Amino acid sequence: LHIAMLFGGNSSEHDVSKRSAHNIYDAMDKSKYDVTIFLISKAGYILTPEDSWRVFEGEDEDAIVEAAMAKLDLDAPLAPIVNLGEISKIDLFYPVVHGNLGEDGTLQSLFRLLQKPYIGPGTAASALSFDKDLTKRILNQAGIRNTDYVLITDQNKQDYSYDQLVSKLGTEVLFVKAAKQGSSVGISRVTNEAEYQAGLTDAFQYDYKVLVEAALNRPREVFISVLGNETPRVSKIGGIELPTTDVWYDYNNKFVDASGMVFELPATLPEALTKEIEQMAIDAYRALGLVGLTRMDFMVDEDGTPYLGEPNTLPGFTNISLYPQMWQVSGLSYSALIDEIIAYGLA
Ligand code: DAL
Ligand code: MG
Repeated sequence: LHIAMLFGGNSSEHDVSKRSAHNIYDAMDKSKYDVTIFLISKAGYILTPEDSWRVFEGEDEDAIVEAAMAKLDLDAPLAPIVNLGEISKIDLFYPVVHGNLGEDGTLQSLFRLLQKPYIGPGTAASALSFDKDLTKRILNQAGIRNTDYVLITDQNKQDYSYDQLVSKLGTEVLFVKAAKQGSSVGISRVTNEAEYQAGLTDAFQYDYKVLVEAALNRPREVFISVLGNETPRVSKIGGIELPTTDVWYDYNNKFVDASGMVFELPATLPEALTKEIEQMAIDAYRALGLVGLTRMDFMVDEDGTPYLGEPNTLPGFTNISLYPQMWQVSGLSYSALIDEIIAYGLA
């Protein structure tokens, strides 16, 4: 089976993607899969396999991209893949591109245009799941519990002060989030007007839509991996113990230094809560039209009530990423997991 794996991408998660791609590539059974890799540069340009391998093997990415760009007509940044001439040899695309243009349905549309199968959710489900505002609208319509929020745009941002949001949402801790970002980029935890304004400025750098969400009381963050198409199944639930209540699982704690985090794999939860989280994850997967794989992130309030945080349709596969680890503790090895993801892509 000839697989084309794409990694990198022009989102803020470029570097996370490179780390995910290494693990996935290593776990692919090379006796079954013939894998060609394509790096998408930070500017969105797709490199040739030769240049991609050099980046994959650790050569200086910026220098390779610069040299490749100098050689080509950059009015058509997708030209290298579309003109490959090798497209007919590709049996399946394996995108390992987190974030904008990778996880938001854009790349999935390219695969559809090329009439090739690919792993993971399709265009519409990816787009809905990557937009935290649209996700919440679908969850609310399907009756799946999630935190209250106010959508802020240029049109209404003058209408709300921090105090007004606190009285509307009922909590003094608020999370300000760009609607479309991953890896906790563009998210701030705010507790006063100055922090709120700074959070808004940061989030608006990434998107024209910003969510201000109510915080839960001493929430516990838990995660569940979902795998499959029409009849998806779930892994055991993983959890994170945060060292103090004002710390949250941000980019730094996810990808830079996770040493302050205590992972619970699997998490010890009451039976009824486990069942509820499993059901909410499956219900959300179906409501959003997901196939392939998705990591569902939850928060459990101090009183034991679970809230769906968000779906992650191309979840991280770095060494400290939870999606594959939760399958491992559920008895599915890393390479067997990749086999299934590929099989669901071909189905
Ligand atoms: N967006 C990152 C990669 C994740 O959800 O794992
Ligand atoms: Mg995410």
